[in-house]
This record gives sequence, structure tokens and C-alpha cells, in this order.
Amino acid sequence: MTRSTSTGNRWADHYTRKAKEDGYAARSVYKLEEIQARHRILRPGDRVLDLGCAPGSWLVFAARIVSPRGSVVGIDLKPVTIALPATVRTLVADLRDPEAALGQGGPEGFDVVLSDMAPSTTGNRTTDAARSFDLAMSALAVARTRLKAGGRFVCKIFQGPDTKTFEAAVRRLFEETRLFKPQSSRKTSKEIFVIGKGKRQEE
Ligand SMILES: C[S@@+](CC[C@H](N)C(=O)[O-])C[C@H]1O[C@@H](n2cnc3c(N)ncnc32)[C@H](O)[C@@H]1O
Repeated sequence: MTRSTSTGNRWADHYTRKAKEDGYAARSVYKLEEIQARHRILRPGDRVLDLGCAPGSWLVFAARIVSPRGSVVGIDLKPVTIALPATVRTLVADLRDPEAALGQGGPEGFDVVLSDMAPSTTGNRTTDAARSFDLAMSALAVARTRLKAGGRFVCKIFQGPDTKTFEAAVRRLFEETRLFKPQSSRKTSKEIFVIGKGKRQEE
């Protein structure tokens, strides 16, 4: 039987329950699964950087695809406490200052940069969208310096007045850009994923 939440969103319950059954730390994993099914972002042997990785479901999903030759580095404000495969390592850092978070001479040469970063929400959609835009721009700054030419990028953003600006910035850095709203994303959520493929070689 499908139980409904206080907001009446039966899919929220479906994916939350499914994550528990499948042993994932968060229902967000199904968003990446859908992105992967449609856009084939992750490939065996890839080196992946996952921004806003806690509690860790994307880390586990990505590691299953890229291992054993590939690896995943995750970064979040909060430590990841679940057991992780040997090909995954995590760092605790604030990505609002991406270069300080990654460090000069820090990891680079990634095939894929993922960002599921989300600000603490205030309930004010304009404020939340503005904070999400700032995080998305930080993720793009990381992609600019740490992603290989030809690399792939997936970034969550809460739709708002600045979304077009973000999309245009992604378009400038990548050969191909797509917007994607997974079925598993709550219908009430303003989140959307911007996908970039084929990072341009910059001068
Ligand atoms: C929706 S959760 C990510 C879920 C994750 N993809 C998973 O599957 O487990 C968003 C994460 O973004 C992180 N975050 C928000 N602001 C951040 C920042 N400035 N620097 C690093 N991480 C941040 C939060 O701490 C939170 O863990």
C-alpha cells in the first residue's frame, strides 16, 4: 500500500521507502540514477568529484559505476558517516570558496563534476533560489578548474530569476547543455538539474 505524506505526495514516500529497501543513505540517489539512464554521465574508469556529497548516496552509486579503475572524491560541509567503497574518499569543506576548499595543487583532472548542493532553506523562494544560484556558480567554478577538457557536469539549482544566467554560463563552458527534472524529484520542489557535456578547452 502506498502511504501519503502530510503534503499528499505519494512519490515522496515511494522513493524514501525504496532508498531504505535498497540500502541507500538518501532518496536523492534516484535522481542521479535517472540522469545516468538518460544522459550516461558516469562511465567505468572515470574520476568523479561529488560536491555536496553527504549523506553519501551519490558517492555509492557513482562508485558502483566507475570502480574498480575509477574513483570518487566527495566534499561537503558535513562529514559522511556511512561505510564507503575503497575507491571513495571524502573531505569536509565549504564550497562557497571553491579554491580554498580544494586547495591550490589539490585534486584535478576529473572526468565528471557532480553537484547536488542545496542551501538550508528559509521558506522564502527568492532567498532560497539566490543561495542555490551562488552554490551552483561555485560548482561551475570548480568544474572550470578541475574538470578535464571534454568532461561532464551535473548541477542542481533551485529555479528562480538567476537560473537563465547560470544556464548561459554552463553553455559557455560546455559544447552541449541540457535541463533535466527527474521523476523522483518532488513535484513541489523548484529544483532542476543543469547538465553540461564536452567541457571546452579554455585558452
Ligand atoms: C541534498 S544534499 C546532497 C545529497 C547527496 N547527493 C546524497 O545523495 O547523499 C545537499 C548537501 O549539500 C551540502 N552543502 C550545502 N552547502 C554547502 C557548501 N557551501 N559547501 C559544501 N557542501 C554544501 C549540504 O551539507 C548537504 O549535505
